[in-house]
Amino acid sequence: MPVRKPVLNPPFNVVRASHVEIGVCDLARSRAFYVDCLGLLVTEETADAIYLRAVEERNHHSIVLHRSREPMVHALGFKVASEEDLDRAAFWFGRKNLPVSFREPPYQGRTLRTADIFGMPLDFCFRMDQAERMLQKYAAYQGARIQRIDHLNCFTPDVQASYDFYSDIGFKLTEYTETDDPDPRLWAVWLHRKGNVHDLAFTNGSGPRLHHVGVWTASALEILHICDVMATCGYVANMERGPGRHGISNAFFLYVRDPDGHRVELFTSDYLTVDPDLEPIRWSLRDPQRQTLWGHPAPKSWFEEGSVFPGVAVREPVLAAQPIVAR
Ligand SMILES: [Fe+2]
Repeated sequence: MPVRKPVLNPPFNVVRASHVEIGVCDLARSRAFYVDCLGLLVTEETADAIYLRAVEERNHHSIVLHRSREPMVHALGFKVASEEDLDRAAFWFGRKNLPVSFREPPYQGRTLRTADIFGMPLDFCFRMDQAERMLQKYAAYQGARIQRIDHLNCFTPDVQASYDFYSDIGFKLTEYTETDDPDPRLWAVWLHRKGNVHDLAFTNGSGPRLHHVGVWTASALEILHICDVMATCGYVANMERGPGRHGISNAFFLYVRDPDGHRVELFTSDYLTVDPDLEPIRWSLRDPQRQTLWGHPAPKSWFEEGSVFPGVAVREPVLAAQPIVAR
């Protein structure tokens, strides 16, 4: 069976997906997209980096844009429940012969830099500098009025191997897609720590690569509004897919591409998953309502394009099964 029982007492306690460090080629061009158009708040900016957060976020940053020669993703960031969890995580990754080092990046406490079995760079931290509470400063709400980071979605060359790896450290399966073979194979998994559909998802494809950063909005109205904003301020070609309603997760969504091609999903209205005996929901890869409840297939770019991690070799997927793709 490709699906396992959840690990209820993991070796260390990950709280949630908390931040992502993205390399962009032109900081001013990216600032125009993320701040002036999408409406994220600037906590701090230097000549080489812009630290962004959304209106609900008390943490200093959830998306960091770094000046970079090539578009890339430096690390996927997760918060853990205590300083001791950082040491427990370092021990666990070290025992798997995966790279382990500690750093103190700006505005964060002690941070464990490690990698998963495919080399995907992971940062774990407990403490982050705190920023002004903006949730009730409604005049500061702009663009998509984004509230917080929600999840990170990645291509993996082997969904089963990635699922097994993250299950071992306590990520719980909420929904999954598999083939209809007599011996079904996993094609995608949605895994959570914080109690909604996902903190981390994996899709079958050339990887490891980041597929998208998912950010939360209060309602579908914010997503419809940003469609109007993007369509009339020069970003119509940056809207890649949607707006729509996912079958998987039930979330309302819009996928947009930033000026370097990094993908961001505006996402809202999934559901609570905190029950420890929650049964994961199965979807067939050939179900047309899996991707979009209303039946619209995703474009080819959605299955093929993603953001690379620096120095990490991209492998072809072990599974050749075909999803439904729009013409
Ligand atoms: Fe997503």
